[in-house]
Amino acid sequence: MPDPTSEPAKPNFLNRTLWIDDNLKVLRGINSECIDLVCLDPPFNSKRLYNAPLGSGAAGAQFSDTWTMDGMKAEWTELQEAADPALYHTVVGAGLSAGDAMQAYMVFMALRLVEIWRALKPNGGLYLHCDPHASHYLKQLCDSVFGHNRFRNEIVWKRTSTKSLGTQRYARDSDRIFYYTKSQSDFVWNQQYRPHDPEYVRMSYRYDDEDGLGPYQTQPLTGGKRGGPLAYESFRDAEPSTGRAWSPPRRDKFPPSAGAKLPADYEQFDVLAKCEALDDAGLLRWSENGIPRYKSYLSTKQGNPASDIITHIPPVAGKEASGWPTQKPLALYEHFIAASSNPDDMVLDPFCGCATTMVAAERLGRRWAGIDIDEVAIGITQKRLQEESDAAVHNVDLEGLREGLPLLHLPPKPPVRTDPDRPMRSPNIRAILWAALGEGDRRPCPACQRHKYLDDFDLDHIQPRAKGGIDADDNLQLLCTSCNRTKGQRLTMSELRQQLLARDQQGFDNG
Ligand SMILES: C[S@@+](CC[C@H](N)C(=O)[O-])C[C@H]1O[C@@H](n2cnc3c(N)ncnc32)[C@H](O)[C@@H]1O
Repeated sequence: MPDPTSEPAKPNFLNRTLWIDDNLKVLRGINSECIDLVCLDPPFNSKRLYNAPLGSGAAGAQFSDTWTMDGMKAEWTELQEAADPALYHTVVGAGLSAGDAMQAYMVFMALRLVEIWRALKPNGGLYLHCDPHASHYLKQLCDSVFGHNRFRNEIVWKRTSTKSLGTQRYARDSDRIFYYTKSQSDFVWNQQYRPHDPEYVRMSYRYDDEDGLGPYQTQPLTGGKRGGPLAYESFRDAEPSTGRAWSPPRRDKFPPSAGAKLPADYEQFDVLAKCEALDDAGLLRWSENGIPRYKSYLSTKQGNPASDIITHIPPVAGKEASGWPTQKPLALYEHFIAASSNPDDMVLDPFCGCATTMVAAERLGRRWAGIDIDEVAIGITQKRLQEESDAAVHNVDLEGLREGLPLLHLPPKPPVRTDPDRPMRSPNIRAILWAALGEGDRRPCPACQRHKYLDDFDLDHIQPRAKGGIDADDNLQLLCTSCNRTKGQRLTMSELRQQLLARDQQGFDNG
């Protein structure tokens, strides 16, 4: 566990980095606690193969959304070895309810969510985009990794309006986005608002004094039974209604230019003097039967607090469409990034596709990094960033510009962790591993099983470093020099064993 008293680690990569790789390898190389916000839109377990249309900017992009436990053997073993009961039972439960494909998908997601959680800063947040194919299982997975009390919202995004009939069910028109935070109470939150419905405004803000302050509605100048005896006295021949007391609003309830009409020491006035000051400033409206109410201006209202049901953002169309299968609208990701990060924060999308999250982050002045396994993502990301920079709707610092293009870093390898929390190699790891091989002067090589002296063994990275393996005790073993040479940088342990078996078989067949 990271030390809670230490400073969050710095990202061990540059702003505007795109890795073309399996995101698990990259995530494992990212420093702990250096990311402010993760937005991810993984495959949904839809059992489809997504192809970008030929001729589109994304032509060639393809990903399969079909899952088998056979294809997930190594990751399943890892998950079992991680010995996290909540995670394990969630994954197995999904498999029991929905079959092997769902279990394989959950194994895939579980390992990645664990790394994402680790890489998030203590006040960071996560938006996980999915749909009802697997949303109910994914939520349980997020509960296991983040804690069920870190769940903030299940957002429903209405992504289409189906015109055709469904097959004996309701039309499936929406996606789900889970919003989690790493901390239960200390996280970035910038309240977002939606403009009021014009019809509501027309009906509710019926007055306008044509004095430049705009439309207003009226609100009672009285409140519950609070305030001293003066609050029950008559004010300019008006009495507070039975059981109510005068309760004049604070100056900041009004637009600044209206508030400026009140005396400078207004807040120190007694209740009746405040009511008089409001009346003198023209901020009260009297009804025909002599009841004063104060003017509540539309310009002081920010709109409706953003809801967990989003119906106003249409699917990608027109100029925004890059041709990338499953592209999501920029407006949706701008909405999430604005709510849950601050300028200069680091935003990561581990399944970035055609860079929607990254373009949204760029527009809002955030730093970002993306990962996608499909190299078509490079060209399309560059193209979209170029369009952004041409549109000049955002501030790109001059250092980041190269011939008019926001600089895009394309590291050839996953990053290597530099944070103090990274798993380390024990200084006496050779001795530890030697002891684990048994007793005696000669001990069995874990691959070929031949007994050898200590000097005949090499220290091997189980997951090769070139493939993102880390230099830590968990990823080290002793292999005899001959097996180590055969394994090289290419083979996994099971591939090595198969190769040795085939060689033995051949030797046997040849007599
Ligand atoms: C649903 S799409 C993301 C679309 C993206 N939100 C957008 O607006 O373009 C999922 C993406 O995940 C990528 N992907 C699938 N498996 C991956 C893996 N193991 N590592 C990295 N990327 C992966 C696919 O290539 C695909 O681009």
